Amino acid sequence: MRSYVDAKIEERRVAIEVGAEEAASAKDRVDLSLPGVVRPLGSRHLIRQVFQEIEDIFFSIGFSVVDGPEIETPYYNFEALNIPEFHPVRDDMDTFYLELPKGAPGLLLRTHTSPMQIRTMEKQKPPVRVIVPGRVYRRDNPDATHSFAFHQVEGLAVDTDITFCDFTGTIEYFVKQFFGPSVKTRFRPSYFPFTEPSVEFDVSCVFCGGNGTTSSGTCGKCKGAGWIELFGAGMVDPAVYGFVGYDPKKVTGFAFGIGIDRLAMLKYGIDDIQAFFQNDVRFLKQFP
Ligand code: PHE
Repeated sequence: MRSYVDAKIEERRVAIEVGAEEAASAKDRVDLSLPGVVRPLGSRHLIRQVFQEIEDIFFSIGFSVVDGPEIETPYYNFEALNIPEFHPVRDDMDTFYLELPKGAPGLLLRTHTSPMQIRTMEKQKPPVRVIVPGRVYRRDNPDATHSFAFHQVEGLAVDTDITFCDFTGTIEYFVKQFFGPSVKTRFRPSYFPFTEPSVEFDVSCVFCGGNGTTSSGTCGKCKGAGWIELFGAGMVDPAVYGFVGYDPKKVTGFAFGIGIDRLAMLKYGIDDIQAFFQNDVRFLKQFP
């Protein structure tokens, strides 16, 4: 009798186990015929894409990329760039200062990527060939061409034998790679405390081909000039080398600061800088 009951119990146990296994595997079975879940795919922001484009161009001629802090000290943002206190240039760079406890050393939001020229040269002996993509801040009232946060790519090349010709050649190469071989460049004298001589680079207007006119009259983008102002640049002022322990008698170099938002607006025909910051998906989707 006992063995009969044991056998029955065993039979039942096996049946339950097998049943449970079957049920479990039925539950886990993947139905390959079911439609999948479509996840919306984003894309990189247009500004990021333009950074990448610029980085690739400069990679191809031996530059490397570095980045640095958006919160800076007045020393790196101004003094070491040959902009002492009370220099009038400071007025043009309406600066956001951080609110700090009394007595704390001053901090600010960098007004340009140029502080990274100093930080790079402090860390590294020549030769230097770097670009610095980054975000910068100025107290500008927002409108179609101004924003209190915008983007720059700084460039710096320092070596024992860099000439003005290397400088203009590099810039020209970059502009042609970025806008296409048919654009022309020119430079005009300008002023920055940390470059000497300083220049402003222009490109022939990408909308009217440099003619100043289109089929509908005067070109609205360059206002008939045929040229569009692109960015500031120059040969590194020897005074700057003094701040980083380079010997101004032994090295020369050039620097430039490209405004990325403007460049992107020109290349992609965008007429409001705010579009970059509003992040309306209908705008972003146009640049997959
Ligand atoms: N830092 C300057 C600006 O933001 C641009 C610049 C960079 C000019 C490097 C010369 C050399 O206006």
